[in-house]
Amino acid sequence: RWSVYKNIPPGPRPYPVVGNLGGFLVPACIRRRFGQRTGRPDLHPTEAFAELARLYGDVYSLFIGSQLIVVLNGYEAVRDALSHHPEVFSDRPDIPAISIMTKRKGIVFAPYGPVWRKQRKFCHTTLRNFGLGKLSLEPCIQQGLATVKAELTRLSEERGAAGVDLTPLIGNAVSNVICSMILGQRFHHEDPEFHAMLDLMVRGLEICVNSPAVLINVFPLLYYWPFGVFRELRQVERDMTVFLKKSITKHRQTLDTDNPRDLVDMYLIEMMGRQAAGELDSSFTEDYLFYIVGDLFIAGTDTTTNSVLWILLYMALHPDIQVKVQTEMDEVVGRHRVPSLTDKGSLPFTEATIMEVQRLTVAVPLAIPHMASETTEFRGYTIPKGTVVVPNLWSVHRDPTVWDDADTFNPARFLDDEGQLQRKECFMPFGIGRRVCMGEQLAKMELFLTVTTLLQAFRFELPEGKPPPSLRGRFGLTLAPCPFTVCVSARTLNSESNSQ
Ligand code: HEM
Repeated sequence: RWSVYKNIPPGPRPYPVVGNLGGFLVPACIRRRFGQRTGRPDLHPTEAFAELARLYGDVYSLFIGSQLIVVLNGYEAVRDALSHHPEVFSDRPDIPAISIMTKRKGIVFAPYGPVWRKQRKFCHTTLRNFGLGKLSLEPCIQQGLATVKAELTRLSEERGAAGVDLTPLIGNAVSNVICSMILGQRFHHEDPEFHAMLDLMVRGLEICVNSPAVLINVFPLLYYWPFGVFRELRQVERDMTVFLKKSITKHRQTLDTDNPRDLVDMYLIEMMGRQAAGELDSSFTEDYLFYIVGDLFIAGTDTTTNSVLWILLYMALHPDIQVKVQTEMDEVVGRHRVPSLTDKGSLPFTEATIMEVQRLTVAVPLAIPHMASETTEFRGYTIPKGTVVVPNLWSVHRDPTVWDDADTFNPARFLDDEGQLQRKECFMPFGIGRRVCMGEQLAKMELFLTVTTLLQAFRFELPEGKPPPSLRGRFGLTLAPCPFTVCVSARTLNSESNSQ
């Protein structure tokens, strides 16, 4: 059994019991304390991983406890594993802190196999039928954006030169799109139930990836520790369960099979159909639905919200690019109607700008951990069955072998000589291969409509006299911008500064 470990990729020497957990894979709170004492800066895992790639090459090993982890860096290594060896590298590991909560059901953390395939196919098709990729979701997104615009106008007057924190406004609009599609329900942005649910989700994620609760991955019994974050984690899980179960029960009680309202209705209909057909081993159960709803909320909110925030922050930091985007929109859309998805093909610079911010900021920088489902030879090394494989998407987007001046913000890199958008294989903010993001089309729709609608209506500037926020961001499950505020002013038709 141990012979397969003889030829694993190189990497730093692990310590007994904890492996390489010390230093950079520990949560931020401990890293900060450790950093203060040692004078070592608080590195993000992405930065720490990049440092290791310089020492050990594009494919290297780490250990968390006794668990072998192989990190893939750069375009070639990531593409080779996920696109050329999908049968081996599409599984998900059993991570104790996550498995305790997801029971390895749903889609995101479900093992690769027939159950995952059926559930993913059903959800993907259903979301598409409800408007994903079609125009019917557009009014729902635009309705949310109308609220964001009204609130932004009010808040910008109220806050003046101090600027506005965009996070709650964008977060609410994005969460409401998911709520509409899955639960058929929009919440008022000040609804206490909605806020309680959002706070629970954010807190749950924060605890799982950025608190001492990550130690559950090495010592699973810590989950039952009756104090501190461990106790809080169990409470968050209980509260989320109550909210989602209540919502599913309400759907079952009011279900009209001829008029499904949302994904939950469609799932219940599919489930009843399979039961009626006598499909005894069907994975379509109310229990499974519960985990799918949780997955889609978690996968679809933080990611899209942070991507929009990054784009608006970059616009405030690069006023010349902001004006270029607005000029293109003025020419194509004008100021008298809201932008629509049909404008997408006619706004190449705007699209290139969105993509360039996604390239530099990478909302899910380390993707979601994959796992080798069998022992395999990869790039001259042995990757044993059960190895956790981390595709470092951040390193792909900074790979100097595929990007010129990889660290420079330059939307024009996505345009050809005629100024038309050119797709690049090495651009992969949604991952690649069998586990590629299931919400890619929805996310692209949301990003495009949100960014164009807000840039058509407003100019975003950093508050004068305040230092700009660091562009390293905050590393959690997703890479979020550091807290920032922006001054927002309405673009009026005759405004001189807007017609530059
Ligand atoms: C997985 C990125 C929005 C649903 C992923 C992965 C990435 C990603 C990198 C992991 C791929 C891998 O494991 O190799 C993003 C970004 C988004 C976004 C950058 C927004 C800008 C969404 C939305 C939804 C969604 C809106 C759904 C409503 C999922 C699901 C998975 C996933 C279900 C798991 C797929 C599987 O394991 O089969 N996403 N995502 N995502 N995403 Fe997204």
